[in-house]
Amino acid sequence: MKPSIVVVGSLNMDFVVSVKQLAAPGETVLGRNFQMFPGGKGANQACASAKLGGNSVGVKMIGRVGYDIFADHLKASLSAAGVDVSAVHATRAQATGVAFIWLDAAGQNSIVVASGANGELAAADVEAMRPVFRGARYALFQLETPLGTVEAALKLAHEEGLETILDPAPSQPLPAGLLAQVDILTPNETEALKLLGRPMARVSPGEAKMLATGLQQMGPKAVIVKLGDQGCLAYDGVRHRHSPSFAVEVADTTAAGDTFNAGLAVALAEGAPLERALRFANAAAAISVTRCGAQASAPSRREVDALFQGQQEPARLT
Ligand code: RIB
Repeated sequence: MKPSIVVVGSLNMDFVVSVKQLAAPGETVLGRNFQMFPGGKGANQACASAKLGGNSVGVKMIGRVGYDIFADHLKASLSAAGVDVSAVHATRAQATGVAFIWLDAAGQNSIVVASGANGELAAADVEAMRPVFRGARYALFQLETPLGTVEAALKLAHEEGLETILDPAPSQPLPAGLLAQVDILTPNETEALKLLGRPMARVSPGEAKMLATGLQQMGPKAVIVKLGDQGCLAYDGVRHRHSPSFAVEVADTTAAGDTFNAGLAVALAEGAPLERALRFANAAAAISVTRCGAQASAPSRREVDALFQGQQEPARLT
């Protein structure tokens, strides 16, 4: 039986405006072009997992949408990538989630999410979908659905024998009971600093070692700090590994972290050792930043394999 991944999380329609510079508080800036893309951290991870897994990994999504045109569009985008959306249910209580994204000339962004139906995904809904988890290998979570639901779903995934990967985004304080259910926590540097109550700063791989160690002591089995163009730093309670990034030209960093998590889950579900999984995830994320849009930027397996060829430098123990 092929390995499978379950994603519990959000689906959003992304409204993206390109600007020269992100607006400061109280400032009006003129944008250039406007585009709509299927997004949402959960859906992005599901879509990228399906594209990267190809025919060898099954992907199922659990989430909530409204009864509207965006819901149809988002489900169609996932289905086209090969994601099973039979556990994405509609609610009449709210509209489908949306995200407003300003994208600057350097490819950096600023995002505001109106959660809508994503906020209606209850712990009881996930419990009712317990059969979806059976036989799967990895479960992916983010924080765009209610925290209580995430905690209950993490526990349920463990009960069903899955390994859990939590992307703590958007960042918020996390209870110890929730962190104890996490096998791999994958903050970016900002989220890592926030979770540890440290002031914001650019983080070097050396400094990321301290962040990963501090976070691992809060409960997760392992921590991978995503460092953007500096790659990532992993700590499993025994050793630190730094895996460098691939040099690419940046067009849009939206969903790079989601694509990284998808690459990590696909490689691990296929049985790759951690070093290779980190490299694979870095390659997938690197390709995603070279083009615009969230799900639209997720690479195919063939593209990642091509970037990999001749660049098999392993993660370094530090
Ligand atoms: O991680 C990127 C995603 O964050 C976007 O697609 C947007 O929907 C927000 O959820």
